[in-house]
Amino acid sequence: MVSTMIDALWGWPPPVLDPAGPYSGKVTTLAWSLFGLGAFVTLVVVLALWVAIKGPDKWKAKLGGERAIWLGGVAFPGVVLTALLVWGLTLTASLTEPIHGDEMRIRVTGEMWWFRVQYLDPSGAVVMEDANEIHIPVGRPVVLELESADVIHSFWVPHLSGKKDMIPGRRTLLRIEADRPGEFGGVCAEYCGRQHALMGFVAVAHEDDDFREWYAERNERLVSAGRGIATPEEPLSASMTVASEQSADSRPDAGADANSDQLSGQQLFMQSGCGACHRVAGTEANGLAGPDLTHIGSRRTLGAGILPNNRGTLIGWIGDSQSLKPGNRMPSYDMLNADELEAIAIWLEQQR
Ligand code: CUA
Repeated sequence: MVSTMIDALWGWPPPVLDPAGPYSGKVTTLAWSLFGLGAFVTLVVVLALWVAIKGPDKWKAKLGGERAIWLGGVAFPGVVLTALLVWGLTLTASLTEPIHGDEMRIRVTGEMWWFRVQYLDPSGAVVMEDANEIHIPVGRPVVLELESADVIHSFWVPHLSGKKDMIPGRRTLLRIEADRPGEFGGVCAEYCGRQHALMGFVAVAHEDDDFREWYAERNERLVSAGRGIATPEEPLSASMTVASEQSADSRPDAGADANSDQLSGQQLFMQSGCGACHRVAGTEANGLAGPDLTHIGSRRTLGAGILPNNRGTLIGWIGDSQSLKPGNRMPSYDMLNADELEAIAIWLEQQR
């Protein structure tokens, strides 16, 4: 089953305590230490309370003495809290370390209420765009450049790293790394409006070979649409250079297998104005406001992690997105009939 936001929240062990990489491992160690220390302090306080109420007089005197107050009330918390502060700040600094130069870079932008995902080359240029799904190779640190298009969001994939705010007008960095392949659910962790709770994504960690294959497939598609990346066999970071522009519109009309006087899914998509908000590489759909749909067919979820992606949910989302996620920026296309919705869904399924 797909690891969506729901799994991330309800799975067991909870993702915060189930690290799948070195960065989240450090966060988990800190979390357990805080829990252990907290439990210890609680125990000491309960014992002191017991002594104060029912303990022998000799102990009561000691507990109320100046020495106990200086040691237990000032020195102990002072030392422990200072140590935790230093630990926490050092840990945060290691998660947000600046780019050294050879890491894979992905820009993730929080939008109301979904995540724009852009794979970058070493110079920071965008070579590939997707939404609500982040693919990374196992065993390599990946630097995320976090931004926001509107309000403050917070990026959190607890299996892979700590939590980091996405702030309008500012770029923050967060490192993630997976040490095993898998699908790891993520959420927006900062209240950002009505559908904050329905703003999820999935991070997919691939073994190196699988990742290359995934990347090469995408690249092939993009090259045919004139936006490809040269030499995908090379290590990713070194190879993420944008190929020269080729002619667009080179893709066949994949939806036109029905009879010819029936509008194809692609034509319906264009006629309905979907291309004003969505981009599909290789077609005239060039909108930037909504999620890029070039690879929509291969995504695991729809609506930012809230639905599995299949023909039925695609039809439902296009026809009635305002019921599924009220207030989101995509209007319900309820003027389209069932056949038209299905034709568009079939065409979108083919965009992989
Ligand atoms: Cu975006 Cu909460």
